[in-house]
Amino acid sequence: MSLSILTAVVLGLGLPALALPSTQYPNIATRLNTTNAYTVPAHDKNLTARNEAIQVKRETFLYGPSIAGNTSFWPTGSLGNSTVQSQFASLVADGNSQVAAVKNDSATAAQAVIAAGGITKLSDFDRLYDGQWKNAIPDGLVSGILSNYTDDLLFSMERLSLNPYSIKRLNPTSDKLAFDIDESIALSITGMTTQSLLASGSLFYIDQRFQADLESTGRYAAACDAFFYISSDTGDFLPLAVRTNVGENLIYTPLDLPNDWLLAKIMFNLNDFWHSQFYHFAGTHMVAEIVYEAAYRTLSDSHPVLALLNRLTPQLFSYRQAALATLINKGGYVDNLFAYTGAAAAVTTTILYNEMGAGNFQANYFLRNLENRGLLNSSFGPELKSFPFYEDASAIHTSITKFVSTFVDSYYPTTTSFESDNELQSWISEAIPAQILDFPTSMTRQTLIEIITHIAFLGSAAHQTLNTNDVAEAMAVLPFHPVSLYAPPPTSKGVTDLIPFLPGVAASIGQISVTALFSRPTFLHSERSLTQMFNSVEMLARMPPGIKEAAETFTGEMMVQSGVVSSRGFDERGLCQGMPFKWKALDPQRAPYYFTI
Ligand SMILES: *[C@@H]1O[C@H](CO)[C@@H](O)[C@H](O)[C@H]1NC(C)=O
Ligand SMILES: *[C@@H]1O[C@H](CO)[C@@H](O)[C@H](O)[C@H]1NC(C)=O
Ligand SMILES: *[C@@H]1O[C@H](CO)[C@@H](O)[C@H](O)[C@H]1NC(C)=O
Ligand SMILES: *[C@@H]1O[C@H](CO)[C@@H](O)[C@H](O)[C@H]1NC(C)=O
Ligand SMILES: *[C@@H]1O[C@H](CO)[C@@H](O)[C@H](O)[C@H]1NC(C)=O
Ligand SMILES: *[C@@H]1O[C@H](CO)[C@@H](O)[C@H](O)[C@H]1NC(C)=O
Ligand SMILES: *[C@@H]1O[C@H](CO)[C@@H](O)[C@H](O)[C@H]1NC(C)=O
Ligand SMILES: [Fe+2]
Repeated sequence: MSLSILTAVVLGLGLPALALPSTQYPNIATRLNTTNAYTVPAHDKNLTARNEAIQVKRETFLYGPSIAGNTSFWPTGSLGNSTVQSQFASLVADGNSQVAAVKNDSATAAQAVIAAGGITKLSDFDRLYDGQWKNAIPDGLVSGILSNYTDDLLFSMERLSLNPYSIKRLNPTSDKLAFDIDESIALSITGMTTQSLLASGSLFYIDQRFQADLESTGRYAAACDAFFYISSDTGDFLPLAVRTNVGENLIYTPLDLPNDWLLAKIMFNLNDFWHSQFYHFAGTHMVAEIVYEAAYRTLSDSHPVLALLNRLTPQLFSYRQAALATLINKGGYVDNLFAYTGAAAAVTTTILYNEMGAGNFQANYFLRNLENRGLLNSSFGPELKSFPFYEDASAIHTSITKFVSTFVDSYYPTTTSFESDNELQSWISEAIPAQILDFPTSMTRQTLIEIITHIAFLGSAAHQTLNTNDVAEAMAVLPFHPVSLYAPPPTSKGVTDLIPFLPGVAASIGQISVTALFSRPTFLHSERSLTQMFNSVEMLARMPPGIKEAAETFTGEMMVQSGVVSSRGFDERGLCQGMPFKWKALDPQRAPYYFTI
C-alpha cells in the first residue's frame, strides 16, 4: 500500500495555527459586579429593552433544515448563520495543533511499521503503536486494551464502558430470543439453557442488524447481534454468542475455534463502534443543540440560565459543519476508511435519533436511561457485578446535579418564582416549534435542575465516554476494532488466517490518524478539563457568590474523583473495575467539560 493514500487521508485538513491552551486554571472570581449581573425577568430594570432584544434573536436566529442527517433543526437566519460561522472557525483553530501532531506522527509510524516488515500476523499490529503517536496520543493506549484483547472479559466489559449505549437486559416476560443457540452449547458455556438464562433475567442483547441495509463503501462488514450473560457461578458478565446476519448468517460462540471466535468478536466490534460514533452524534450533539436553540430564542442574554448554557456549550454549532467538511462528506474519511459510506453515517444518525431513541430528552436522563435498559435497579435478574460506566459517570453526574441545584435555588428561592419567569415558561412551549423530542411539558424547580444537568452531562461524561480521547486510546485500537473488513464475512467456520480480513499498513495508519484527530491531549489538566466545568471568571463574576462557592466545590470533588480514577491499578486477577483494561475516559482531569469535537 502506498504512503500517498495515507498522506491524502491525513492531509485532508488544512487549518490555521493554534495557540495551546494555558495549563493554569483561572482564579474563580470573587465578587459580584452589580452593574452587569445576570437577572431573571422579575428583577430586570428594563423589561421593554429585554423583550426587544429577545425579539431580535427570534427574528434572526431561526430553525433551518437539519444537516448531516435528518435530525434536529440547524440554525439559519443572519444570527444563526454568523453563530455557526464563528463557532466553526473557533473549532478549527482549536483542532489545528492536533492535526499537526497527527500528520507528524502518522508519517513516522508508517515508516516504522514498513521498516519492521509491515503487518503479516496479528502481533504485528503492535508495531503500529510501539513508540509511536508521541504527539497525537502522548499518554498512549489504555493499558491492557492491546495486550489483553483475546480475553472474553475484555470484549464483554467494553459493552459496560467504551460503548454503554447499545446493550439491554432482556425482560423475561416481554422479550423473546432473537436467535437460537444450540442448548448443549449454551449449557456447556454458561451451565444453563438460554431459556433459563432469560427466565432468570441474566441475559443481555445488542442488536446492530439495521446496519445490514447501509450503503457499503465496497469494503466489508457483518451486521451482528449478540447475547451476553451474567454467569451464575462467578457473577462475571460474559459473551455468549454473536450472529453475523449476512451471507451464511453464522452464529459464533466462545466454543468455536479461537480464530473463528476472535473474528466474530472483531465483526461485532466493527458494528458496535459504528453505532457508538453515530449514537454520540445523534444522542449528545444533536439533542443538546436543539435544546440550546430553543433556549437561545426564548431566554434573554441576561438570563442566568442562558449564561450557564453558554458556558457549557462553546462551539456547539461547529461540529456538524466539521463532520460535513472532512468526515462524512463524499470522499471524506468515512468513505475512505469505513465499511459504510459517509452518506450511510448520516442515515444512521437519522435512524438513531428518530427511531432508536437517541433523540429523546427525558428518557435519556442518566439514571432513567440505564434503568430503562435493565442495567441499573432492574426489577428482574442479578445486578451487574461491575459497571464501570455507571461507576465513573455517576460521580460526575452527582456533582453536576449538586452544583445545578445550588444554582437554581439561588435564582429561584421559592417555587412560585418559576411562575413569574415567563422566559423559562416560554422555553418549555418553544419545544413544540423546535420539535424537541420528549422535552418536559412544564417547568418546576426539579425540571429545571434536570434539564441543565442533562445538558451538562451530555456535553461532558456522555460525550467523552463515546468520543474525544477514548476513540484512539481504546475504542478503535487495532486489530480488535477495525472500521472495515477487507474480506467478506466467512461463509463457513475454520478460518485459518485473520490478516486478510484486517486493514493493511496504510489503512491502519489511516484509521489511527482519523481517530486521533478526535483526541485533545492539550486539554488534559487544562482549564478545559471537566474539573473546570463551571469555573468561568466572566460568568461567575456576574452571579451571586454562592454559585462561585458551588463551582469551587464542584472543582474540588472532581479533583478527588480524578485521583480515584488515575490511581486505579490491576488487581491480582489482572482486572481493573472488573475489566482486563484500565479505562480512564472519565478521569475529570482528562475529559474535557464540553463537547470539544
Ligand atoms: C462591571 O460591569 C460593567 C458593565 O459590563 C463594566 O463596565 C465594569 O467595568 C464592570 N466592573 C468591574 C469592577 O468589573
Ligand atoms: C428601556 O429601554 C428602552 C430601549 O429598548 C429605552 O428606550 C428606555 O429609555 C429604557 N428605559 C429606561 C427606564 O431605562
Ligand atoms: C426530515 O424528516 C421530517 C419528519 O421527521 C420530514 O418531514 C422531512 O421531509 C425530512 N426531510 C428530508 C430532507 O428528508
Ligand atoms: C443562512 O445560510 C443559509 C444556508 O447557507 C442560506 O440559505 C440563508 O440565505 C442564510 N441566511 C441569511 C439571512 O444569511
Ligand atoms: C514531530 O515529532 C517529533 C518526534 O515525536 C517531535 O520531536 C517534533 O517536535 C514534532 N514536530 C511537530 C511539528 O509536531
Ligand atoms: C491486562 O493487561 C495488563 C497490562 O498489560 C496486565 O497487567 C494485566 O495482568 C492484564 N490482565 C489480564 C487479565 O490479562
Ligand atoms: C438505583 O440504584 C442506585 C445504585 O445502585 C441506588 O443508589 C439507588 O438508590 C437505586 N434507586 C432506586 C429507586 O432503587
Ligand atoms: Fe463529538
